[in-house]
Amino acid sequence: MKVALASDHGGTNLRKEIADLLNELNIEFEDFGCDCGGSVDYPDYALPVAQKVAGGEFDRGILICGTGIGMSIAANKVKGIRCALVHDTFSAKATRGHNDSNMLTMGERVIGAGLAREIATIWLQGEFEGGRHENRINKMSEYELKQ
Ligand code: RB5
Repeated sequence: MKVALASDHGGTNLRKEIADLLNELNIEFEDFGCDCGGSVDYPDYALPVAQKVAGGEFDRGILICGTGIGMSIAANKVKGIRCALVHDTFSAKATRGHNDSNMLTMGERVIGAGLAREIATIWLQGEFEGGRHENRINKMSEYELKQ
């Protein structure tokens, strides 16, 4: 699995924690910043990373901002992206099993590093359950194709 990772200025510290975690889990990844001293705009990081995941260059993407919300909204604008904003371990498992989410966002100002690491680990290791969930995803993909 190859993961694309990025954050805005509001998520830099947590992004570094997640980079450490990916190294510990021996998961290949590329860190797309930000290398920012000051304030940046989250779409400038979310959109290119989402395009790389949608295009198949990366299997999954993880984005961090202050709340996780802006990154999630932006990533979900890209066709083929199912980006889940997650701040609890139950949803981390469920969104892989039910939504086959290919991107994860979290908010550095919302949760601590320990919980974020647990969420990311569960999400990275979670398997899509298929079946009735696949039908639901297909409905969204068909809708996207008509846009
Ligand atoms: C930046 O201040 C903040 O708005 C951003 O990190 C994020 O929380 C947006 O949704």
